[in-house]
Amino acid sequence: MKNTDSVISFINKTPKSELHLHIEGSLEPELMFKLSKRNKIEIPFKSVDEIRSAYNFTNLDSFLKIYYEGSNVLITEEDFFDLTWEYILRCKNDNIVHTEIFFDPQSHTSRGINFSDIVNGIYKALTKANNEFRITSKIIMCFLRHLDEESCFAILKEAVNHKDKIIGVGLDSSEKGNPPKKFKRLFEEAIKEGFLTVAHAGEEGPPEYIWDSLNLLKVKRIDHGVQCLKDDKLVNNLKENNIPLTVCPLSNIKLRVFDKLENHNLKKMLDAGLRVMVNSDDPAYFGGYLNTNLIETSKALNLSLDEVKILIQNSFKSSFLDEKSKNFWLNKI
Ligand code: ADE
Ligand code: ZN
Repeated sequence: MKNTDSVISFINKTPKSELHLHIEGSLEPELMFKLSKRNKIEIPFKSVDEIRSAYNFTNLDSFLKIYYEGSNVLITEEDFFDLTWEYILRCKNDNIVHTEIFFDPQSHTSRGINFSDIVNGIYKALTKANNEFRITSKIIMCFLRHLDEESCFAILKEAVNHKDKIIGVGLDSSEKGNPPKKFKRLFEEAIKEGFLTVAHAGEEGPPEYIWDSLNLLKVKRIDHGVQCLKDDKLVNNLKENNIPLTVCPLSNIKLRVFDKLENHNLKKMLDAGLRVMVNSDDPAYFGGYLNTNLIETSKALNLSLDEVKILIQNSFKSSFLDEKSKNFWLNKI
């Protein structure tokens, strides 16, 4: 067996965890089409193929425009259930045993959708996933950083009523020009309410946004963080404090953070001793779920079996699972 074959086989059969997945980014064109009909919502596409061929992005903002438009077909609790259940079936297929998913309530409540319908739809699918497949999960609510503090405080108030289902809060959407310091007070309040915090930082934005996410937003993980290698002091800090970086390789190629997978800096991050792992971000838009991300990246960067093992171990170590569950899965790898 060739080395690459044994790496692929290892990826396919090993239990895995995913820590960076936007549930709205798992909306496949087929379901988008079905929901647009079910809810009588017009979308600017005549067919599933037409939707797919619109997925040519030049940067994060060009993607976000299509992503928010796509989300418009999500209306009822049942829609959020169906969306999440489809992702769970992908998890089962990829042997993902634990997943921590983001959702973007402000992109729905701004259209008049009930916060409870969103959370309950997602939560019911995740409960069914646990009952039927033993897949465990956590839900993280993201604030849209292009919106103002007031709108984010209002959505935090809604989340407080669902603390039993939401473990933490994150920060996503358009990064450049929307620095972490804009949300310092919001994150302080979220922490007071008992939420864990994470933030997208250093996807397109500068290392300074990673520093500020750590120092001002007190995040437990940095989502993406690939720009950290531009700042040696930051790399040392991330390493010393074992801060996880939830890297999403196929996303970074589709959004042109790197020109091709062969030039992705994941291996350099691994070599620098950073706690990195691989995730799919918005798999319906970026060409693949977790196993595809791991396989394509391993091939492009010529990763060894040991390096792939470290990536998968890092994902469990960096999760919000309790220590007993982490150790259970780490022993299986
Ligand atoms: N929302 C969904 N995907 C995102 C990404 N990759 N970066 C920022 N916000 C997002
Ligand atoms: Zn993301």
